[in-house]
Amino acid sequence: MNIVFIGCGNMGTALLKAALSISEIDNIYIIEKRKEQRERLKEIDRRLIVSEKIDSLPDSFLVIFAVKPQDMESAVKETLPYIDKAKDVAILSIAAGVTVDYYQRQTNKDIPIFRVMPNTPGLLSAGVSGVFCNKRDEKFWPITHKIISGLGEVVEIEDEELIDVITAVSGSGPAYFFLLTQVLAEYAISRGLTKEQAELLARRTCYGAGVLLDRFDASPEELRMMVTSKKGTTEAAINFMLEAGIRDILLSGFERAEKRAKELSL
Ligand SMILES: NC(=O)c1ccc[n+]([C@@H]2O[C@H](COP(=O)([O-])OP(=O)(O)OC[C@H]3O[C@@H](n4cnc5c(N)ncnc54)[C@H](OP(=O)(O)O)[C@@H]3O)[C@@H](O)[C@H]2O)c1
Repeated sequence: MNIVFIGCGNMGTALLKAALSISEIDNIYIIEKRKEQRERLKEIDRRLIVSEKIDSLPDSFLVIFAVKPQDMESAVKETLPYIDKAKDVAILSIAAGVTVDYYQRQTNKDIPIFRVMPNTPGLLSAGVSGVFCNKRDEKFWPITHKIISGLGEVVEIEDEELIDVITAVSGSGPAYFFLLTQVLAEYAISRGLTKEQAELLARRTCYGAGVLLDRFDASPEELRMMVTSKKGTTEAAINFMLEAGIRDILLSGFERAEKRAKELSL
């Protein structure tokens, strides 16, 4: 099996590291515009075939589009002649908003197309990805599943529309969590702690809460109740936030993210 990366930045590199550990993969071709990034990639593994532009490709490959959505149209255009010529080909795309139908229209070929929404914890194999595909074939799907499993857990969906919900929940989700971390630290600084102390307290609190979520057999609500004693400090904070409408604010924010994902769709 041959893999071709079109763009290999942050997310592409995470997928590449996963691909490197899969024995069924023979050659990995990487087309990457940025020179410094090409140098970095060559250092990861000497067997990688890294270039700025496509020269030639084998007649059977899985192409992974890992460029930003705004670069997608030109990336697809540059790759189309090779997809056209290939005997056996499939597409794995991680670009937000780029639909299976878009690739189908561009390639005009009945090939497997896997649309994946990963998230940044995937860089440390601690992520969760949503995946929708038009077909689970016997050749490309098992390899695709192995590659995305290298980023963490995988949630398969049967309705492509739900990818926008996944984008709003787990794609953007780490940023909501980091905002909470940032505001916790800002509060600690405003109340007299040093920046260093505040950041350590906020970071380790959020990290520790994440570890509890991962390792304790309890729901988020149950974990929250473990910290919330009657008439205590946590209850005072949580009750105030709920009464002030934090739940509605969060839900409206997630809804905005989903709406924006739809607006950005190609
Ligand atoms: N980061 C996230 O949290 C996240 C989560 C889920 C999904 N995604 C999706 O993942 C995709 C990649 O994001 P990223 O953060 O990994 O982006 P990135 O770090 O910017 O990597 C993309 C790389 O592709 C290069 N490139 C652009 N056009 C190209 C072309 N035609 N041929 C070859 N290389 C090309 C870029 O070079 P230049 O910089 O020179 O253009 C860049 O080095 C995006 O579509 C995004 O929607 C990201």
